[in-house]
Amino acid sequence: MIHCGKRHVCAIVVCIVIFGSILICSWKGAQLQDNMTRKTFPQGNNVISVGQFCRGKAAKNVITPLKDNRTFIISPYFDDREDKVIRVIGIVHHEDVKELYCWFCCQPHGKTYVSKAKIDVHSDRFGFPYGAADIVCLEPENCDPTHVSIHQSPHGDIDQLSRFEIKNRKAEAFSADFTVCISAMFGNYNNVLQFVQSMEMYKILGAQKVVIYKNNCSQMMEKVLKFYLEEGTVEVIPWPINSYLKVSTKWHFSMDAKDIGYYGQITALNDCIYRNMQRSRFVVLNDADEIILPLKHSDWKTMMSSLQEQNPGTGVFLFENHIFPETITTPMFNISSWNTVPGINILQHVHREPDRKEVFNPKKMIVDPRKVIQTSVHSVLHAYGTSVNVPMDVALIYHCRVPLQSNLPRESLIRDTTLWRYNSSLIMNVNKVLYQTVLETQK
Ligand SMILES: *[C@@H]1O[C@H](CO)[C@@H](O)[C@H](O)[C@H]1NC(C)=O
Ligand SMILES: *[C@@H]1O[C@H](CO)[C@@H](O)[C@H](O)[C@H]1NC(C)=O
Ligand SMILES: *[C@@H]1O[C@H](CO)[C@@H](O)[C@H](O)[C@H]1NC(C)=O
Ligand SMILES: *[C@@H]1O[C@H](CO)[C@@H](O)[C@H](O)[C@H]1NC(C)=O
Repeated sequence: MIHCGKRHVCAIVVCIVIFGSILICSWKGAQLQDNMTRKTFPQGNNVISVGQFCRGKAAKNVITPLKDNRTFIISPYFDDREDKVIRVIGIVHHEDVKELYCWFCCQPHGKTYVSKAKIDVHSDRFGFPYGAADIVCLEPENCDPTHVSIHQSPHGDIDQLSRFEIKNRKAEAFSADFTVCISAMFGNYNNVLQFVQSMEMYKILGAQKVVIYKNNCSQMMEKVLKFYLEEGTVEVIPWPINSYLKVSTKWHFSMDAKDIGYYGQITALNDCIYRNMQRSRFVVLNDADEIILPLKHSDWKTMMSSLQEQNPGTGVFLFENHIFPETITTPMFNISSWNTVPGINILQHVHREPDRKEVFNPKKMIVDPRKVIQTSVHSVLHAYGTSVNVPMDVALIYHCRVPLQSNLPRESLIRDTTLWRYNSSLIMNVNKVLYQTVLETQK
């Protein structure tokens, strides 16, 4: 029995020694790892402070200027399609902004890491000094930042910086098949009838959401937007870009020497792609006076399934723009109550301008947002996968506006009544909206 007891004690001693060594080893390991984290962190990163909780002033607006007055932050988005990066959509002066740093607040302890950003000014600046930019930072390891601040220097006081929430961090289920992005509503926009008709067409064709970057519009439009907000169809992103920059209504600097082109449209479109990357199967990039009209299918969903089947690996579908001049009217669908509503009645404009040999019809797009890296207005600049031109017999863009070929007589235009296929549901839906908004008192 004594022998047995001795063995017992021996076993316990051995156990304690082993357990103790494991404890010491793991403690040393943890220390070592801690040092490693600091030393071998990707170049350009360094620990500023340890043990603080996330600080800085929470950014409240869609456009936030930095202290340099040359950088404007829209929003950071998590993007792990290649490296794990934070892509901050912004606007920068293409020459003056040379260096920017991401200040990350790491969870769960609120450590701050600073890393140098790659500033990628989009190539489609069209001569303007300011353009859309991706401010891209590698995400620190073992950090899981929920917020980031952007600063011109790796040094400074974090309390003085704006803190932005990083979007697209958590996986999300699709809440829409199609989201339409309307990039800039400006100039006291008051084309109420055409806007409501476009909205109702988007819904008939399969859109669940329309995102509008709103600079400014009329009181009557405000009422219509409020209706769609309450309906849950519209998301308004305030876009007060003219408070910070001199904006042009033209697309090229040579036409209008301002700071940035077309109310910062390109930045808005890129933001819209990232904003809807997780929640929408497709994003439709067009203006409020444009409607992508399918010719072989009754809606976008069946059209896109067919196009995807025929074009595997394609993430970008380009549709040809066709002008239906507002000056050429067909006296059909003259609905008396609509005559008091400002704007164009698209059902009365069913003649399109013929193609010109020497002029290329611009395109607008339906994209899989997860395949897009950088977008322009008529094409994408960087994407995973290919772009495809959708032929005219599958779909065209119905674009009702002032003519481009104003010298052409009516007989030279092509009568195209594709839009009329939708007349009965369109009229019914438009009436429903008008009687709940601008025609409310006439109910
Ligand atoms: C930035 O703009 C503000 C307001 O216009 C002005 O007060 C400030 O001096 C400007 N700062 C720089 C660095 O240009
Ligand atoms: C909207 O912009 C126009 C000029 O484009 C201006 O005259 C009008 O006052 C602005 N309206 C509002 C509400 O800011
Ligand atoms: C629509 O009908 C009204 C009369 O109700 C008429 O004055 C107007 O000219 C018509 N417009 C078109 C475009 O046919
Ligand atoms: C309006 O739509 C209905 C079907 O909803 C169709 O029967 C009718 O022909 C259309 N009207 C025109 C003028 O195309």
